[in-house]
Amino acid sequence: MGKEELYKILTSKREEALLGGGKEAIDKQHKEGKMTARERIEYLLDPGSFTEIDMFVTHRATGFGMEKKYGLGDGVVTGFGRIGGRPVFIAAQDFTFMGGSLGEKQAEKIVKTMKTALSVGAPMIFLNDSGGARIQEGVDSLKGYGDIFYMNVMSSGVIPQIAAIMGPTAGGAVYSPALMDFIVMTQKTSYMFITGPRVVKAALGEEVDEQTLGGAEVHATKSGIASLVGKDDRDTLDLIKKLLSYIPSNNTEEPPFMKTDDPIDRADPELDSLLPDDPDKPYDVKEVIERVVDKGSFFEIFPHWAQSAVIGFARLGGRAVGIVANQPNYMAGSLDIDSSDKIARFVRFLDSFNIPIITFVDVPGFMPGTTQEHGGIIRHGAKILFAYSEATVPKLTVIMRKAYGGAYIAMSSRHLGADYVVAWPTAEIAVMGPSGAVEILYRKEIAAIADPEERKKYVEKITQEYKEKLATPYMAAARGYIDDVVLPSETRSKLYRALEVLSTKREVRVRVPPKKHSNMPV
Ligand code: HXC
Repeated sequence: MGKEELYKILTSKREEALLGGGKEAIDKQHKEGKMTARERIEYLLDPGSFTEIDMFVTHRATGFGMEKKYGLGDGVVTGFGRIGGRPVFIAAQDFTFMGGSLGEKQAEKIVKTMKTALSVGAPMIFLNDSGGARIQEGVDSLKGYGDIFYMNVMSSGVIPQIAAIMGPTAGGAVYSPALMDFIVMTQKTSYMFITGPRVVKAALGEEVDEQTLGGAEVHATKSGIASLVGKDDRDTLDLIKKLLSYIPSNNTEEPPFMKTDDPIDRADPELDSLLPDDPDKPYDVKEVIERVVDKGSFFEIFPHWAQSAVIGFARLGGRAVGIVANQPNYMAGSLDIDSSDKIARFVRFLDSFNIPIITFVDVPGFMPGTTQEHGGIIRHGAKILFAYSEATVPKLTVIMRKAYGGAYIAMSSRHLGADYVVAWPTAEIAVMGPSGAVEILYRKEIAAIADPEERKKYVEKITQEYKEKLATPYMAAARGYIDDVVLPSETRSKLYRALEVLSTKREVRVRVPPKKHSNMPV
């Protein structure tokens, strides 16, 4: 065969591969409001930067009609490209070919991409859209998932891993995203569950549809699986781009710097009046965060789940930081099981990837009650203590108002290794709030006063005394447990100065005795 003919064969094979499961299946995908795997890659990556690998891979399965199901690429598009100029690796399942189902060769393609991403030190992005393990390939499919899970774990903490759920993700297939750092789900067109509605009905007699069982809304509000939700395919991919803009390419690099016009010494007088006069009244901590960080840089993660804690990325003087905060607007900002998990996992992520942590504290305590105790608030709350103590990145803390008991310690206190802790004059750092403390300390004295008016006056007097002497920032400041008491309006410039000087803090210069690893409560 001459060269010309050989080149023609290549062209036609490429054309065939680009069609995936064929025109009809592509039309069906579009009709459902979904882009194809290649369209998604094209939209996500910098224009013209995608290099595909393994375009000609095919399965080698036989039986169950597999001989007739032949397709180049085997239901996944893999390769590398750039986002914002930085290299990334990508695997996008192609639902048009056998429903994107994963067999031996599809898995090998994905694992190959993951291995290269790990060795290069570049983020791995996985766009899921698949019927799960390819039934016809039996245990070879399961082996494939096992290999992917193993690579997910080996890559964890070395390169960022982001999963988008852009169609079905069912059965054990959900565990690859679950092992990654962030999951972005697409509204309406995606779902994730261990077993689908039919199996649920057979096993439990429960009638439920796909979206109610495992749609984006459920996972973003109830289960804490979806870190973010995109309105459609494009929005989902935009969220991935935004996420990556705060994250370094691997654990040996610093996060990207973004020049800002927002002056680092900008005072914000309105912050001084933001807290309500009544210390028991709520306010929105997101307003505090937005006023302190670079304008427009706050990017909240898990905005609708475990809302008594707020987490997200931001920038201060152009440097990427992770934000953790209590939200007085929701359950008075107390720490419950879900918010403990939310904070702990985020702190672990930030620490893995050299992203400094700024913690805003206004916390009345861990959530009391049988539901929380029986659900294991002790075990879950311990994760926050563990994560902050282990974290060696710069840790900066602002105590705005309440900082009581164990929750004070847990929320990045000096005692867990915070590097710079400031309190606002409104801070109340104590073992517990005034009413509880007075009740315990003076129960007998209060009960001995018969006249209700007199009793009320006495309680007011001792409460006031407690507030002035114990529930203030000055006792902690006198001990050096906090570094400074600052006006809210000064917070930005104080934090920036500390962040700048702490930028050379390195793990090797900080404790951590040699050990295989610790036994984090999970
Ligand atoms: C082989 C599959 C497949 C699978 C879909 N297809 N899932 N082929 N193995 N797992 C094929 C279909 O046969 C069909 O082929 C094409 O993909 C498109 O599927 P449709 O059913 O026509 O599409 P749709 O109506 O949109 O429904 C999508 C779906 C449904 C909801 C995902 O296909 C489905 O329920 N699939 C099975 C899901 C599942 O239970 N997977 C196993 C999970 S267990 P044709 O030739 O007709 O176009 C698992 C274990 C992993 O994954 C364990 C890891 C440890």
